[in-house]
Amino acid sequence: MKQNSKYNNDILRVNISSLSLRNPTILASGFLGISQELFNKLYRYGVGAVVSKSISTQPMEGYKNPTVVSLGNGSYLNAVGLSNPGAESFSKEVISNKQVPLIISLVGSTDSDFLPMVKKFDHLNICGYEINLSCPHVTQMGMEVGDDPEMVNRIIKTVKSYSRKPLFVKVGVGNSDIIAVAQIAKDAGADGITAINTIRAMTIDIETSMPILSNRIGGLSGKPIKSIGIRCVYEISKKLKIPVIGCGGVFTWEDAVEFMLAGASAIQLGSVIGYEGIIAFSRITSGIKKYLERKGLKNAMELIGLAHKY
Ligand SMILES: Cc1cc2nc3c(=O)[nH]c(=O)nc-3n(C[C@H](O)[C@H](O)[C@H](O)COP(=O)(O)O)c2cc1C
Repeated sequence: MKQNSKYNNDILRVNISSLSLRNPTILASGFLGISQELFNKLYRYGVGAVVSKSISTQPMEGYKNPTVVSLGNGSYLNAVGLSNPGAESFSKEVISNKQVPLIISLVGSTDSDFLPMVKKFDHLNICGYEINLSCPHVTQMGMEVGDDPEMVNRIIKTVKSYSRKPLFVKVGVGNSDIIAVAQIAKDAGADGITAINTIRAMTIDIETSMPILSNRIGGLSGKPIKSIGIRCVYEISKKLKIPVIGCGGVFTWEDAVEFMLAGASAIQLGSVIGYEGIIAFSRITSGIKKYLERKGLKNAMELIGLAHKY
């Protein structure tokens, strides 16, 4: 894989299952759109990998505005409603991907939704899938599917029966025990877990008495969910011994290191991009690098799960 001379990326080389990353920072699903041109820009910038917006079999319009509201203090509440152009249209965008380590996020209701999508993407230059079983504000998709153990099992087995690419399952904090869902995913053949998605939440305008989001309920992201993400990554990686990608409220290199000590092999950045743009990737990457040097560690892999000893 071509290296970006701007970074001494080798020091941050992380291998998650068969997914090799030049550095452990990944763009989280749902941020910065789905254009290949933008993915190329992120790659040139040195990002470890990019996760696409969640893609469904058919195009989805999503909810009416307002769909995203900044709550200040590094957090957002969103109910976008998984708006996306559908698998056929997005696969035409991905055809031109030459070098970006691209993970396609897939969302659907049943196992039969996933197979046609994987058939559209599997021959393209992508490095894996992330199955969204955790979006907290859509019906019959995301978390509602993640709450159905038999369906989780069927979806993962279906994708794995067709594709040899790494498959990550994105879990969240909802009605079901997150460890139980991750366990089912692992048993069904998932190569790794991404934890966590946004958490069901709400905000109301006190002057009009109206819920601010058009969908009323949305998902909370950013700084307030970081400690919940750390707990989930710690428990999943410790109990299940499966590679975990940490996500939720990473704003600083210290947050990223904390996720890795909890057991994350890599970290996804989401809300921080909304607050400060893609500069966050280089700032966090160089902070991790300096921390490794200060601690006398050769690469970021040496950090993974160090907190499990205590
Ligand atoms: C506007 C918005 C759209 C999102 N869209 C998706 C999505 O399509 N699929 C998905 O799995 N997660 C989606 N997420 C969740 C993020 O990928 C991430 O899990 C969450 O925001 C927590 O990370 P953060 O605190 O760093 O933002 C979205 C989040 C936001 C704020």
